[in-house]
Parts: sequence; C-alpha cells; structure tokens
Amino acid sequence: MLRESVDLSANAPVNTADAASAWHPASWHSHPARQLPAYADAAALQSACAQLRQFPPLIFGGEVLALRRQLAEVAAGRAFLLQGGDCAESFDALDGDAARETFKVMLQMALVLTYAAARPVVKLGRIAGQYAKPRSADTETQGGVTLPSYRGDIVNGAGFTPAERAPDPQRLLRAYSASAATLNLLRALAHGGFADLHQLHRWTTDFVRASPQGKRYEELAGRISQALDFMAACGFTSDAMAQLREVDFYTSHEALHLHYEEALTRRMEAVPAGAAAPWYGASAHMLWLGERTRQLDGAHIEYLRGIANPVGVKIGPNATPTDVLALAQALDPAREPGRLVLITRMGAGQLAQKLPPLVAAVRDAGLPVVWACDPMHGNTVTSGQGIKTRDFNNIVQEVREFFAVHAAAGTVAGGLHIELTGQDVTECRGGGQNLTDERLAERYTSACDPRLNGSQSLELAFLVAELLNAQRR
Ligand code: PEP
Ligand code: CO
Repeated sequence: MLRESVDLSANAPVNTADAASAWHPASWHSHPARQLPAYADAAALQSACAQLRQFPPLIFGGEVLALRRQLAEVAAGRAFLLQGGDCAESFDALDGDAARETFKVMLQMALVLTYAAARPVVKLGRIAGQYAKPRSADTETQGGVTLPSYRGDIVNGAGFTPAERAPDPQRLLRAYSASAATLNLLRALAHGGFADLHQLHRWTTDFVRASPQGKRYEELAGRISQALDFMAACGFTSDAMAQLREVDFYTSHEALHLHYEEALTRRMEAVPAGAAAPWYGASAHMLWLGERTRQLDGAHIEYLRGIANPVGVKIGPNATPTDVLALAQALDPAREPGRLVLITRMGAGQLAQKLPPLVAAVRDAGLPVVWACDPMHGNTVTSGQGIKTRDFNNIVQEVREFFAVHAAAGTVAGGLHIELTGQDVTECRGGGQNLTDERLAERYTSACDPRLNGSQSLELAFLVAELLNAQRR
C-alpha cells in the first residue's frame, strides 16, 4: 500500500511510496509495543474496537491541514505554539467546567503572548482525548497489596481496588464519547461568541482576578479594548470580521493506546480533490509520542508515521543527535514544514547542556521542525509530604534555558507545552501565590501529574511574553 502524505508548500499531495515499508492502520501490530494494557478478554477488546470503527471521525481532514499550515508558520518563526491542558483528563470531570476553564486560561495566555510577540499564537489543547498514561512501573503496591498501575481512564480506574484497576475495553467507548462531548463544547466556545476578542475581560476566573497576574492581565485587556474601539470606529467589528469573533482551537493527546488510535484512523478527502485520500488519525488534530514509546522500531512510531496529522515526539535528556535525526527521518521523511514537533523535556539545568547538540544537528540537516519546550516532565519532584509536585522556578528556568539555546543557535524557540488548568488547584509549588509544600494537599485534583493553576499559567505567559518581546527587539 502506498503512503500518501500532503506537500503543503506546493499544496499538492505527493506519494512517498516505499514497498519495503508498507503502512496501514494496523501495521503497528508487527512491531514491539510498549505501555499497552494487558486485557483479560481479547474478544471484548475486539468488539469495542469494532464499535469504534463505526463511529464518525472526531475531526475533519481540512482542520488538520489548517493546523499543519499554522505549525509551518511556527517552524518559520512567524507564529508561536501554545499546547496545554491536563496531564490526564478524567471521565469524572465531564460537566464542562474543567474544559471551559482550560479553554479560558489558554485564551488569556494566548492574548498575552500574541500582544508581546506580535505574531499569531496557535492554540492546541491537551484535551478531548488525553486519557491514556504511560507508567514507569506496571504495578503499584500499597499496604502489602499489589495491583496494576493506573494507566488513564481509557484503560482502568484510579481507585486502588482490583475492580477499578482491571483494564476494561468498554472504557475505549467511554473515552470516545467523553472526547466527543468535550470537543463539542470547545467548538461551541471557539465559534459561538465566548472567544470574541470583545469578551476578553470575561476570560478571567475570580481567583485569578485578585492576583497580581490578574491585575496585569486586566491592564493589558484594557489597552486591547481601546484598540478594539478604535478598530470598530473604522468599521472592523466582530460582525464584519471572523478573526475578532472566533478562534481556531485544536486538540491533541498522547498517541499511546494504539488499539484506540487504529480504530479511529480514517481516510478523508484529499486536497486537491481527486488525489488519493490520505489516512488521518481521527481522534484529534495532533498526536504525540511520549518519551517512553518513541523507539525507532516500535509500534508507536510505526503507527504515527503513516497518518497525515502533525505529530510530536517528546525528547528527554538522554536523546542523542543521532536519535533525533533518526526520529525525524522516520516521522517526516519528506521534510514537510508543519509535520513534526520536537517537544523537549529535559529538566532545568540539564537543558542548557543537552539541547544545543540536538538543535545544531537538526539545524545543520536543514529539517523544518517546530521546537517546543515542555518544562514540566523533567522537573517533577516529591514534596516533604510525599506528594508529586513541580517548582514554578524550575519551570521558568527551563523555559529561559530553552529560549537562550535557540537564540545562540540561531534557531526558532517555537512553542510551549504545559500541563495546566484554569482551576484554582494547589499542585505546583511557588509562583506569585507562593504555594508551599504544606498547602499542596488543599486542592490537589490532578489524576496524574501536577499542573499549573490559572494564576501560575498566566504568570508563566507574562514571563514568556517578555522573552518573546526581547527576541523581537
Ligand atoms: C506527559 O506528557 O504527560 C508525559 C507522560 O510526558 P513524557 O512522555 O514526556 O514523560
Ligand atoms: Co504528565
């Protein structure tokens, strides 16, 4: 079978046919797959996947191609990528509050960044499908009892009971409907008036409004409102301009659960019409691979290489230039701008040492990748009370190092990848609220890793805005 991909620069599909590497949605089965759950009942898994294959795609190919064009702008330094959301979404938080708060804080961050950088910000949620988690250990032991690890709501339950922790294929169907429900709300928020620039004062939650970040945001919002009044006087109103009235908001998640991804792989019409329709991962606009599942000969790379979506790969501190070039060759052999996002997650203090050789190798090979900084996953620590947390200062330091490395190499610091929520949680230490270890347990609601809360997220956006502004000057 041919692998079709789309050459966006020429706006015409090219066939990167390679008989030796025939790809199809199930070709990953002949490669070693890590991190997949062991289901007791294979027939139940097959039946759930058969049902998923009957469901409509969650996204449309044209949206995916639009995201690729925007990411190509990011790679060229003409736009900035903001990717953020929960570490793990939960089936228990489906009333819409969590998604709406994430959407709001991302709009606020994007506004701050757009204003500073004077470039568009591509808004990409870790949302509407972020239900599968890789784990370092297969089992967890508490009080002498050993059970399978929690692997995200798409696999099993977080509660420490044998029933909760047993992988259940029916959860694949719940993940699909939860994703569809969340995506429906996000589309309504993005296009139904809530994201209208004239609503920018309404995007702040009460707990953030009172903080120094909230005040700073209100000042900026005031200045933008004035500019909007001026534009309205000139005839540029929301009624006249979709750009003022709505936003593009895209979805992404880790492509970990390959049975789920395979069952949601669809051919969708090609651009231009008449060309062979490419395969899309239809569960989200963008998919990425985690640090634990990016082995070159592995099943996850095999699946991702064949879909036309933009794809990301996490790059940890042990990756070598050879590894990164091989990953790029596997996932983006045609070197298409907007196809590949390299998401570094090395840890504060480490990144300044480890990233320069990787950036130099990619630059010298002329690869048009997006570099994004995940300052979360290399900075996870355990508090004095035994709670998983992250220091706001370390997060900021890793981001600063990321910008400095790219400035020195003459490459583009393209984006941020953040675990965040707009809600008033107490999961990461520090920031303007000066959250201490003692307060972490107050409102720690993450199903997995600690997230920045609304106030910390906005504070980070202002810091990054300064870095982007300095770059402009
Ligand atoms: C994550 O993004 O939640 C994650 C597990 O990241 P990584 O693969 O970088 O460890
Ligand atoms: Co995480």
